[in-house]
Amino acid sequence: MNLVNEIHKRKTFAIISHPDAGKTTLTEKFLLFGGAIQTAGAVKSNKIKKTATSDFMEIEKQRGISVATSVMTFEYNGKLVNILDTPGHKDFAEDTYRTLTAVDSVILVIDCVKGVEEQTERLMEVCRMRNTPVIVFINKVDRDGRDPFDLLDELEKKLDISVRPMSWPINGGRDFKGVYKLYDNSFNFFEANKTKISKDIVRIDDLNSPLVDELLEKDADKLRADVDLIDGVYGDFDIDYYLSGDVAPVFFGSALNNFGVKELLEKFLEIAPYPQARQSSERLVTPEENKFSGFIFKIHANLDPRHRDRIAFLRVCSGKFERNKFFHHVRLDKNMKFASPFTFMADSKALLEDAFAGDVVGLYDTGNFKIGDTLTEGEDFMYKGVPSFSPEIFKELINLDPMKSKQLEKGIEQLTDEGVAQLFRQDPGNRKFIGTVGELQFEVIQYRLENEYNAKCRFEPRNFHKACWMTGDKSAIDEFIKFRHKNIVKDKDDNLVFLAETSWILNSAIEQNPKITFHTTSDFKI
Ligand code: G4P
Repeated sequence: MNLVNEIHKRKTFAIISHPDAGKTTLTEKFLLFGGAIQTAGAVKSNKIKKTATSDFMEIEKQRGISVATSVMTFEYNGKLVNILDTPGHKDFAEDTYRTLTAVDSVILVIDCVKGVEEQTERLMEVCRMRNTPVIVFINKVDRDGRDPFDLLDELEKKLDISVRPMSWPINGGRDFKGVYKLYDNSFNFFEANKTKISKDIVRIDDLNSPLVDELLEKDADKLRADVDLIDGVYGDFDIDYYLSGDVAPVFFGSALNNFGVKELLEKFLEIAPYPQARQSSERLVTPEENKFSGFIFKIHANLDPRHRDRIAFLRVCSGKFERNKFFHHVRLDKNMKFASPFTFMADSKALLEDAFAGDVVGLYDTGNFKIGDTLTEGEDFMYKGVPSFSPEIFKELINLDPMKSKQLEKGIEQLTDEGVAQLFRQDPGNRKFIGTVGELQFEVIQYRLENEYNAKCRFEPRNFHKACWMTGDKSAIDEFIKFRHKNIVKDKDDNLVFLAETSWILNSAIEQNPKITFHTTSDFKI
């Protein structure tokens, strides 16, 4: 098969949701369809058990297991599907944000009882930044959920995206009868059944036909009215608006009951984008180019002291990756080859000979990689779009053993290269502030500094609200720094960052300094 065919059959995406909406269940159902697993319950996903929230070693153990299923690959209807798993735990949200930079589209799972939840809003912000096409799956329709029109309104309002229903539920909860598929005028009748795929599909020519009254009885008129309203309010589905990230098609179903999942998967395979062109620092790189290129979007450290290796996740963006071929590590200006790259699926990691744009390759790493690093076949460019987001929790790193300063420096440099947390430095005084999205990361850092680098530290909470990267007029920035020097730090790439204590302080800084732009992600460099 030639390169272009290989690339065009790939669909690389992530399933995202607020914890408990049904991401794991849906993933598992997809894998069952794809024949990648044989029984329900086989997916050891990145889902971290609620009971383990205070025990990060336990969480790390689970994450270790889940490396094997970080990328799940299967073939269905002639397409090659790569599902990139994302951790459900809030403290690992950064991991999820980065994974979203490596996919071409996402499926967003919403719980029909709870509607749009906090983490969903954050995840969608990241999708919107890159115009990632989104399909919404409203799950758990077997439960007494919210009115579907209300849910659609909420999606549009809170997620700032237009929606277009593709299927429509007939009642909900205990009275749930099934869905009407708006795109091919057929009914799919519901039977709570966790293993069998629903077969009761009835196609109709006209919603006004008496057959519909026969099938739905008292609910027929309600459906007709709903469909009229949908056609009037939402218009026709336009695939181009979906592909540009402007409209999200919406499906209703129940992952647990395997209802609506096949339709979702098949429509997804039909409309979701294959690997797309990506912007690099120099030019737009198309996946069909013969020459290989890719970037590292995630680094997973092994906490087991007997196996110190790290695993770097490489997203192939163009051409073909090959085992034992020399590639160019752009940041280090160094040529490297990889003797044992691997795929993630299967219990034992399988050795990989080659991979195409859209695929994710696991590389053993001894410290050569940072998140965002680019590999090419010789050309000098860096991929864009792996931003840092403003952390939510800030603490100052205090060295407890001055004899081990060097170890501490090296340790914190390397851990922050992996993306465990963000490091901000303040001069004079070489103060170090660590920013994370969750408390757990501080435990992780403290533990790893002690065990891997033999350095002791403690953390002192610092009451910052947001980190803002600054750009703009140089003299205005210099003036601002003079006035605010206690709150000015530099990130690892020496960019200037303002640590604002409160949103009020940040807003007044924005108002009083029109010549400075304050960014809450480091994406402005891109
Ligand atoms: P997550 O990965 O998004 O965190 O969610 P997960 O799939 O683990 O689902 C969360 C809970 O919701 C699970 O119940 C799961 O069985 C249930 N669930 C998923 N899909 C549906 C659905 O379509 N209808 C209904 N009624 N429930 C659904 P749990 O009790 O937390 O776990 P378990 O003991 O069932 O595994």
